[in-house]
Amino acid sequence: MEFHVVTLFPELFESPLSCGLLGRAIRAGLISVVLHPLRSYGLGRYRQVDDAPYGGGHGMVMRPEPIAAAFDAALAQRPGLWRVMLTPQGEVLDQLKVEQLARYRPGLLLLAGRYEGIDERVGTLVDQELSIGDYVLAGGELPALVVIEAVARLVPGVIGNPQSLREESLSGAMLEYPQYTRPREFRGQRVPEVLLSGDHEKVRAWRHDQALKRTRQRRPDLLGKIKP
Ligand code: ADE
Repeated sequence: MEFHVVTLFPELFESPLSCGLLGRAIRAGLISVVLHPLRSYGLGRYRQVDDAPYGGGHGMVMRPEPIAAAFDAALAQRPGLWRVMLTPQGEVLDQLKVEQLARYRPGLLLLAGRYEGIDERVGTLVDQELSIGDYVLAGGELPALVVIEAVARLVPGVIGNPQSLREESLSGAMLEYPQYTRPREFRGQRVPEVLLSGDHEKVRAWRHDQALKRTRQRRPDLLGKIKP
C-alpha cells in the first residue's frame, strides 16, 4: 500500500518513518511513503505557498494552486489515490474509519495543511476531510503520521502476529483487558490468580469480562458503536 503526503515539512517525517513498525514495514516493501514537498510547487521566485486572507484578519492562508500542482504530480505518478485532507474541521478519525482507509488501493494521498488555514476551494480537490481529534495542532503533519501508522498496522504482514489484530476486531469497539507480566507481586499488588491458573477458557472469559467492565467505566460511549 502506498502513502503519498503533500507537506511543507517533509523532514518531520524522517524519524517516525525510519524506526519501529513503520520503518520495518517500509524496509520489507509492505508499504511505501512518498513525500511531495509543497515548497517545490510554490509560486514565483520565492516559491510562495500562502497569502493574506481576503476580507482581512491576521495570519496567512494556504493558496490553492501549489496544492493542486502537488496533487497533479502525485496523481500522475500514481493514479487512483484516495485524497484526504487533515484538518481539525474534518470527520473525527476512529478505528472504523481506519479500517475503511486501509481498503483503498493503490493507497492514500494525504494533505498536511499548515498556517492558520487553507483556501476553502482546496476542499474540491479532496475526497475526504479528517481530524484526529478535537484539539488544534500547528499542522497536519503529525495527523498524517497518525493516519499512516493506524492504517499500516492493518496491511497484511505489517504486524507480526495477526492474531492480535483479530482479537482487536473481535472485541470491536471495546477497550483492552488488563495485561500482566512478571513479577507476580509488585509493591503489594498481585497478578490475578486466574491468569496463573493455566485454564485458557477461564482466562478468556475473565478477559472479556474485564474489557467490558473497563469500557463501561471509562468509555461507555464506545459500547454503542459495537459491531453486531
Ligand atoms: N491540523 C491541525 N489540527 C488537526 C487535527 N486535530 N486533526 C487533523 N489535522 C489537524
